[in-house]
Amino acid sequence: MTYMKDPKSAADLLFTKRHQLFLNFDEHTDQSENAILYLNTQLSKLASTLSSTSQFNYLDVGCGFGQKTLAIINTIQAYCLIKTIALDPSHELLSLFKNEISDQSIDLFPSTWEEYQPNIQFDFISSFHTFYYIDHWQFAISKMLDALKLNGQICIALRSIDPVCQFKDYFYSKIYDDRRRERNSDELCELLIKLNIEYQIDYVDSLLDIRDCLEKNKKGRQLLEFILRQPYEKLADFEDEIILYLKKIENNGYLMQRDAYIWISNQEKGKLS
Ligand SMILES: C[S@@+](CC[C@H](N)C(=O)[O-])C[C@H]1O[C@@H](n2cnc3c(N)ncnc32)[C@H](O)[C@@H]1O
Repeated sequence: MTYMKDPKSAADLLFTKRHQLFLNFDEHTDQSENAILYLNTQLSKLASTLSSTSQFNYLDVGCGFGQKTLAIINTIQAYCLIKTIALDPSHELLSLFKNEISDQSIDLFPSTWEEYQPNIQFDFISSFHTFYYIDHWQFAISKMLDALKLNGQICIALRSIDPVCQFKDYFYSKIYDDRRRERNSDELCELLIKLNIEYQIDYVDSLLDIRDCLEKNKKGRQLLEFILRQPYEKLADFEDEIILYLKKIENNGYLMQRDAYIWISNQEKGKLS
């Protein structure tokens, strides 16, 4: 799956393992491409209502190497001026992102959402597949709502309880001592309902290519490390069981993925305690 200017695979570049794992995952799925198609449609609708002279402030929380951020910027800037703040704690992913920026107005911050202190208000805040790494969701959402302009929108993408999520949960219970489960979109919806925050939800399907896992090669092992969030040495004892499980749920070497896109507007601003 290529989306970088440099045709060489991003995963070939030298990074610490964590970033290699994310980039390796990305090469095994059309999740990003499908997300970008979906987001372009949604944001074109939003941007077509904007005035060409207004400035649109965009914040991307956990931007990674920015392929979705750049796609969103390109969609919005067809309608109005856009200024973007993109933050991510990974210096390596931010430096990849920096290489992709041409004439867009983007400030990159090496920061987590918890640490970042917004000093402007935003028209649109996105956070795609980042909430798995954020412990306190109520705090994170409250902070986003505080940073949102009137009529602004937040979009959070998270995996639903799809076959990949079920696979994670099945093996998490074996690998980890605690009763860990993958955090998913149902959990976020339950929290929003509890907090009395209205939301809208869409689902975007994609495929995960697990043929490397079935072949037990290096990229397959890295994919399992990313999915199960454990170094392969700790997964080796379960290898046979993992392959057996995957063979039962795969279809021609692929697993179905379903991501939820949860949209919140600032109408409920101020309701969080
Ligand atoms: C699965 S990647 C998704 C990247 C990008 N949003 C995308 O969809 O391609 C998750 C990203 O969240 C970042 N991240 C991890 N913890 C974070 C935190 N506390 N605040 C903000 N970003 C975080 C990681 O560095 C990583 O780039």
